[in-house]
Amino acid sequence: MFAVPENSLVLPENTRLLHPVRVALAWAADRDRWKHLLRYDPEERFSTLVDKTDDQEIWLMSWLPGQTASLHDHDHTSGAFTVVSGLLTEVVTTRIQVVHSLRAGQSRVWGPGYVHQVRNDGVDPAVSIHVYRHGTRAMTSYRYDPVNGPVR
Ligand SMILES: [Fe+2]
Repeated sequence: MFAVPENSLVLPENTRLLHPVRVALAWAADRDRWKHLLRYDPEERFSTLVDKTDDQEIWLMSWLPGQTASLHDHDHTSGAFTVVSGLLTEVVTTRIQVVHSLRAGQSRVWGPGYVHQVRNDGVDPAVSIHVYRHGTRAMTSYRYDPVNGPVR
C-alpha cells in the first residue's frame, strides 16, 4: 500500500515508454507488421529483428516443437515477451527452478539477473514477440547447478 500526496498530477503517458508487456502485446496483435518476416527453421529457433528505436528492439521468434533457448540471462537489458500462438514453457532459475506454461496472449518480463530457459514443449509451432530495453538483444549462457543455482 502507498499514499499518493495531495495535489499529485497524473502525467500524460509517454507512448515511447509503455510497459514492455504492453508493447509486446501491441506488436503481437499487429501481425501485418511482421508476418512477412516469419519463418520456421528446423535447425534452430528462428529469430529476427522486426523494429529498432533508441528505446527498444522488437524481435520475432518461432519455435518448432522441441526447440529451446537454453538457460541464459539477457545481460543488462530488461524487457518482456508475449506468446502469439502455440505454447511455450519458461523455466525461471534461481536456486530453484519454477516452470511457467504460457499460451497465446500471456507474457513474461525480465530484468538484469533474470535467468531462464524457454522452450516449446507443445506439439504445434509457437510464435512469440520479444521487447528488449536498455540495449540490444544479448544472451549469456548458464548451466543449472542444483546446489548453487545458475552458474556461468
Ligand atoms: Fe530469454
